Amino acid sequence: MKYRTIGTDPKTRREVSVLALGAMLFGSRTDEDTAFAVLDRYVEAGGNFIDTSDNYAFWTDGGQGGQSEELLGRWRRSRGIGDEIVIATKLGARPLAPGTSYVDNAEGLSAKVIREAAERSRERLGVDRLDLLYAHIEDHEVSLRETVEGFAELVAEGTVGLLGVSNHAVWRVERARSVAAAAGLPGYEVLQYAHSHLRPRYDVPEDLFPDGSLGHAGPDLLGYLREEPGLTLVAYSPLLKGAYTHPDRLPADFDHPGTPARLRVLRDVARETGATVNQVVLAWQIGGPLPILPLAGVSSSAQLEENLAAVDLELTERQRARLDAAH
Ligand SMILES: NC(=O)c1ccc[n+]([C@@H]2O[C@H](COP(=O)([O-])OP(=O)(O)OC[C@H]3O[C@@H](n4cnc5c(N)ncnc54)[C@H](OP(=O)(O)O)[C@@H]3O)[C@@H](O)[C@H]2O)c1
Repeated sequence: MKYRTIGTDPKTRREVSVLALGAMLFGSRTDEDTAFAVLDRYVEAGGNFIDTSDNYAFWTDGGQGGQSEELLGRWRRSRGIGDEIVIATKLGARPLAPGTSYVDNAEGLSAKVIREAAERSRERLGVDRLDLLYAHIEDHEVSLRETVEGFAELVAEGTVGLLGVSNHAVWRVERARSVAAAAGLPGYEVLQYAHSHLRPRYDVPEDLFPDGSLGHAGPDLLGYLREEPGLTLVAYSPLLKGAYTHPDRLPADFDHPGTPARLRVLRDVARETGATVNQVVLAWQIGGPLPILPLAGVSSSAQLEENLAAVDLELTERQRARLDAAH
């Protein structure tokens, strides 16, 4: 395994494995035995960066989520897991009532929600402190200052370590970080956005992001990352939810002329290296000039093995240049 530091403050920063494990569907679509086997193997291979959220996976049973955190709590207890494993979670997008969604009924990012939701997450996970807590989606009703101060209070109390943000317009991230810095408070240091080798169009409206695909790490976010060395991008859905293996799963926003060109180079490099396309994508993210940590979910141990092997796949400068340039 290889490792990378997330965060800058010596009191809260952590060394995490360059491949993060997504636990979104653990305890719902992925049964407990399979999830425990995957988690055990991930840790055995040196993995120590696991991702969940207080709302995973509400859409699988029409509830409010929490199954993933609860499963991780049971796994931690049964294995005697302590501080060595970094479990990141998120708040803000939990539906306020069963049968509803974050699209129009999310808990949001008020100071009260931040305090109460973080406490519930700590209970479900069975931890005194959340290693990394993200604001999951934007809240347009609450001021950025309230959100910034709400998170900072928990850091000051020691119940939260690092702060992160997901699916926010880059200007909001910058504004929130400025508000925090001006007040001498901790700000977001880990950015979680969708990112893979294939690039989406940004003009396909979604329910959640009516302005376009806000959840994707676009050129503005990557440029921000380049300017701010203290930030890390945690790249969610790096394998496009299995679409490299099952092309019928490719979402509509990837249906454009750039996709076949990038797929061609991915397949060429996979052939040259003897790796799979999934592995080339992950190795390209891990070994690039920007601090990008792929966060992949798996539904089996075999998928995990394939993804773990990508950590040791070294692409040549020439292969990387071809992957970068394809469009
Ligand atoms: N911040 C956010 O808003 C947000 C949004 C989405 C996800 N996330 C986080 O990111 C994590 C990963 O995201 P994701 O599950 O959407 O996308 P992903 O990691 O791109 O896709 C995971 C799926 O891809 C397939 N897969 C994985 N490895 C494979 C392999 N080696 N060969 C073939 N298929 C493979 C599996 O699908 P099958 O099970 O169908 O085989 C697996 O469930 C989540 O667990 C969650 O923690 C965050």
